[in-house]
Amino acid sequence: FDVVDIIRTKRDRGTLSTSQIDWLVDAYTRGYVEDPQMAALAMAILLNGMDRREIHDLTMAMIASGERMDFSSLDAPTVDKHSTGGVGDKITLPLMPLVAAFGAAVPQLSGRGLGHTGGTLDKLESIPGWRADLSNEAMLEQLRTVGGVVCAAGAGLAPADKRLYALRDITGTVEAIPLIASSIMSKKIAEGTGALVLDVKFGSGAFMQEFERARELALTMVELGRDAGVETRALLTTMDTPLGRAIGNANEVRESVEVLAGGGPADVVELTVALAREMLDAVGKGDVDVEAALADGRAMDVWRRFVVAQGGDPDAALPTPNETHTVVAEADGVLARQEALPFGIAAWRLGAGRARASDPVIHAAGIDLHVKPGDAVRKGDPLWTISADDASRIPRALEALEGAWELAAPGTAVDVPSIV
Ligand code: URA
Repeated sequence: FDVVDIIRTKRDRGTLSTSQIDWLVDAYTRGYVEDPQMAALAMAILLNGMDRREIHDLTMAMIASGERMDFSSLDAPTVDKHSTGGVGDKITLPLMPLVAAFGAAVPQLSGRGLGHTGGTLDKLESIPGWRADLSNEAMLEQLRTVGGVVCAAGAGLAPADKRLYALRDITGTVEAIPLIASSIMSKKIAEGTGALVLDVKFGSGAFMQEFERARELALTMVELGRDAGVETRALLTTMDTPLGRAIGNANEVRESVEVLAGGGPADVVELTVALAREMLDAVGKGDVDVEAALADGRAMDVWRRFVVAQGGDPDAALPTPNETHTVVAEADGVLARQEALPFGIAAWRLGAGRARASDPVIHAAGIDLHVKPGDAVRKGDPLWTISADDASRIPRALEALEGAWELAAPGTAVDVPSIV
């Protein structure tokens, strides 16, 4: 095949054959097809789309570019969760132990943050000693002994996607449903999970802002998973305001531990429980009392064993910030609006996220919300506290929050929709 022909075909709204797609992904993985060519093709796909068969072929070709993991030697059914990402989304932390507490094995391959959405591994690394890099053998062993693992995907899993995703990130070609669906699902299918629940976000802080686009993405991914024999389901959930009260790393771990102790913010508990129900139902355990395992310490017990198994100390103090600044209400009122995206950007500017893949994150940096939409406040009440390692970061974070929230007159009714 000729790669220029393939690019021209997609540019002119044509359809690529299975053998063209197989050849292309293999040639790209081997370095024969170059980044500028792949970038041009990604842009043509973003503009002109792919049909269902092409998306399926692209996903299978990306899986074939690397290894496939195999959990069939485990006695327990495997089930994983993937979220398309949002501000304050720490759900994996309470969810994995909660689901594992019912005897399902949860192989959670997670990522690091880039831009305003955080990464699960960055959050967990605020626990002193905790490590994300496990060999495939160690991962399997931990699934057997603890029931859950959160770790970085090895370099061998869907290498074509790793290269393509980094290229899309710098060429404005992330937001294409065929590319997102094949990217996410190639990794999840190669990972070898038996069941998968997708948390597909929509709203102003999600990367699919419109409900209809998020729904199309969800349906595409569910079809890809089912075609590959993975019991796949999706929930569409809102991402207009930050999830929970903590945005950052160490503070998100703290909040997750509150949920595992039977407390925590209502929205985080609601989403954790909804996803746990769906995951357990997907492996034939739909009749259990999920909330009871948060209330009676069973999920906390798995969490503690999980942290220890990966080298961490569940009782160690988490990092605390050098500098904090609390924003207070200038008048009595009701919080009418608190937008996810600017709060995510503010936390990122404080050092909680990274601009380049090689940057470190500051574990103690971030934002703690004292109020959520619908809450009444009195003049002088704290609204949120922002934290950083160095005071020079604070003004730029405050700038990001300008216009991102609104205090309405006292007594104003604020509609707070359910997130699930
Ligand atoms: N996450 C991924 O892994 N791939 C995408 O394309 C988008 C989000």
